[in-house]
Amino acid sequence: MQISQDKKRNLFIKSYGCQMNEYDSERMTEILEKHNYSSVDEPNQADLIILNTCHIREKAAEKIYSELGRLKKINSNSERDIKVAVAGCVGQAEGHEIIKRSPIVDLVFGPLTYHQLPEMLEEIESKPGFPNKKLVNIDVPDEDKFLELKGSRKNLKSISSLLSIQEGCDKFCSFCVVPYTRGVEISRPAKQIISEAKELIGIGAKEIILLGQNVNAWSQSNGSDIDMTFPQLIKEISELNIDRIRYITSHPKDMTEELMKSHKNIKKLQPYLHLPVQSGSDKILKEMNRNYTSQEYKDIIYKAREYRPDIAISGDFIVGFPGETDDDFESTLDIVEKVKYAHAYSFKYSPRPGTPAALKEDQIDEEVKSSRLKTLQELIKQQTRDFNSSFLEREIDVLIEKKGIGENRLTGRSSYLQPVHMSGDASLIGENLKVKIIKTRDNSLEGIIL
Ligand code: 5AD
Ligand code: SF4
Repeated sequence: MQISQDKKRNLFIKSYGCQMNEYDSERMTEILEKHNYSSVDEPNQADLIILNTCHIREKAAEKIYSELGRLKKINSNSERDIKVAVAGCVGQAEGHEIIKRSPIVDLVFGPLTYHQLPEMLEEIESKPGFPNKKLVNIDVPDEDKFLELKGSRKNLKSISSLLSIQEGCDKFCSFCVVPYTRGVEISRPAKQIISEAKELIGIGAKEIILLGQNVNAWSQSNGSDIDMTFPQLIKEISELNIDRIRYITSHPKDMTEELMKSHKNIKKLQPYLHLPVQSGSDKILKEMNRNYTSQEYKDIIYKAREYRPDIAISGDFIVGFPGETDDDFESTLDIVEKVKYAHAYSFKYSPRPGTPAALKEDQIDEEVKSSRLKTLQELIKQQTRDFNSSFLEREIDVLIEKKGIGENRLTGRSSYLQPVHMSGDASLIGENLKVKIIKTRDNSLEGIIL
């Protein structure tokens, strides 16, 4: 595999959407660095522009076409032969349609084929006497993408490093495109994960965030027997020279008692649980194909708190799912009141092509969705504020992640994932320090290093 071997080129990658995409962008950068590409911060300095896209909601997908419109101007004003690639879930879902709608695009591929980037670039390379070739590669490959990417973790992107352990989803929630864009659920082999964790630690990672669409569905099986559970994997990673471990995102159906117990027994596992409920109404949960009731969800939270009383709970909500009545929405507000979230994301339902919910007739008016979203977000915001306020005057552990804004300023994260700002020297980056909280804000804390 060679892309016009020795020529030095510039790469600009823009990542949209979830942390899985961020991780994939890091890996694409690493592959291309091996092939003489260097990252640049501006698209107009690039020879290759990759948009690593998100298809989860309509707005996210539309953003890509606006960005391609902007890139068209850059491309026509540039003397460089800029190649434009659309990667990620929009690439996977829309394939050839993207090139039809936006002729500046040279290459389209999905989350399952990015390890083939060098070969794909070689194929679209302009050759004397031949017109530019376009390529769409959205096949499901036979080979293991991660095996192909082995041994390439060389640049530390952040003290807190992402590590993908599970991809795809078999749950088929009726609103969600993920099972169609990221394929069936696969768990990476434990050995591969541990080896990547060691590579990350070797280049300076202090925290590892285990990633997966359904990260807590991870398991290692040997035929029909499970020979390693997700909590056992966390335990193994905790034995490495790392300060903190987190995992994101979990499904309530895969939330085992063993995992909840791990939050008590494995000290490095942080007291934070992102557990999307989506709705508080049992009728809507059923229509969403979530396979649990609101009571079952609350029971998980209560149980997790038995093992780890200070665990911070986060979640995702969708308002205005087809058929959602005022009463259904009240049930969502009720579950928020009961659970008390440290933080949560909420979205208006967005019909996605090819998903069962998009075909439902009882779609909800935009104004109703907007008004429900506003009400829900106010409630969540109040809970986040209350959660943060409870930290005033407390002494907590903060992992210092990077320089803050302004002279001699640092930014880190509490164990509960709150951003913490403070004064201090950049040499402290990577340290896990005791910090006293002197001020709390809606979305962050201010502290002094003790
Ligand atoms: N509309 C709105 N929100 C959605 N999500 C997933 N699909 C949709 C959709 N069609 C939200 C869910 C999920 C999060 C990643 O995005 O809350 O947990
Ligand atoms: Fe989408 Fe549901 Fe799978 Fe999450 S569990 S990725 S919401 S289908």
